[in-house]
Amino acid sequence: MAVKEYYEDAEPQQNPWVQTPLRESYALSEAAGCRIFLKLENLQPSGSFKSRGIGNYILRRLEELPHGSRPHIFASSGGNAGLAAVHSARALNLLCTVVVPTATAPLMVAKLRAAGAYEVIQYGAAWKDADTYLREHVMPYAQTSTIYCPPFDHPDIWQGNSTLMHEIAAQLPGASAPDVLICSVGGGGLINGICQAMDSLSIGDQTTILAMETAGAESLHAALKAKELITLPKITSQATSLGCARVTSDTLRYAQRENVRSVVLPDAEAAMGCWRLADDERIMVELACGINVALCYDGRLEKALGRPVKPEDKVVVVLCGGSNVTSQMLCAWRNEYAYIEEETEERRRKSDSALGSETGSIKGEDVGMDCVPSEYTKPMVIEGIEVGCVECS
Ligand SMILES: Cc1ncc(COP(=O)(O)O)c(C=O)c1O
Repeated sequence: MAVKEYYEDAEPQQNPWVQTPLRESYALSEAAGCRIFLKLENLQPSGSFKSRGIGNYILRRLEELPHGSRPHIFASSGGNAGLAAVHSARALNLLCTVVVPTATAPLMVAKLRAAGAYEVIQYGAAWKDADTYLREHVMPYAQTSTIYCPPFDHPDIWQGNSTLMHEIAAQLPGASAPDVLICSVGGGGLINGICQAMDSLSIGDQTTILAMETAGAESLHAALKAKELITLPKITSQATSLGCARVTSDTLRYAQRENVRSVVLPDAEAAMGCWRLADDERIMVELACGINVALCYDGRLEKALGRPVKPEDKVVVVLCGGSNVTSQMLCAWRNEYAYIEEETEERRRKSDSALGSETGSIKGEDVGMDCVPSEYTKPMVIEGIEVGCVECS
């Protein structure tokens, strides 16, 4: 049988997501001074962990319809959630239409089309406008039954995301709990799933979760500070996948736990995480994921944890993935934010000459991170917009 015929005849895959590897990164471990494990969610069919949550949501909705129904899927995210909806629909042999705001990057529109979207409609200035248009002017005219797909705010999405943490717990050496888990927060669907799984595995008190946001998309940070949900007036970060103005109420509740620390870094550091991951591990991810990787470099992890890291610490970085990246974007970020590496190099030179040695591992204080809180002060911001450090303020 010809290859083309084989693919045309192939049965659609039944699960819209896959189990991903958990791989120890020696390069990142060397940089961070502890054992770094990468949960490779960039290998999901849609390119991000969103395949899990959106995939599970669609499966649950299908169960509610008469057996054999072939509903049309509708989504309004121009980002990774939209891509996950299209990929999931395809895996289940269904059609998917996506409405995205006009500001959606042509790259993402092209990826939605290439993934096999039935139709991609661009409408409205912001996600809300696109979403309203989808619900009021597109879905009512569908000829078949329909499934509306939200991007993050639904318990079935969190349940799908929780599979990621169950896998990690089974994959870590000794099937143990990680000492630290690093994951980014947009609307909060990912961290909700992770915390749910930790609760059901009873490992919540063994693992410190670093909840990462970029400056200009720090809706969780703002909520923690205010001790209530806050709607950000504007998103100014380039990490648009994290650009959700308000987190879910469950996200705030989980993040108020003792084992969760909120960390905000500037876009420049998220970008640095992306280009260094590409160099060190040959993996391309978008800013929403690079923010997690950035913590592995130049003493940032110690600063975020507020304690020295130990070589035996097992740190899991959720490599959530994301399709909003090209080799050209990586180069542009590297040019625009080159000062990040220059500053680190400058600090390294200073510390080397102070020590009278030619090389040396970088300690938190050497990289200008002398504001490590003596206790859990939440939320904390490492660099950039604010430093809520008791000892320095
Ligand atoms: C690559 C990536 N990482 C992290 C997030 C944040 O996920 P959540 O909105 O579930 O917090 C998103 C959201 O779109 C994403 O696409």
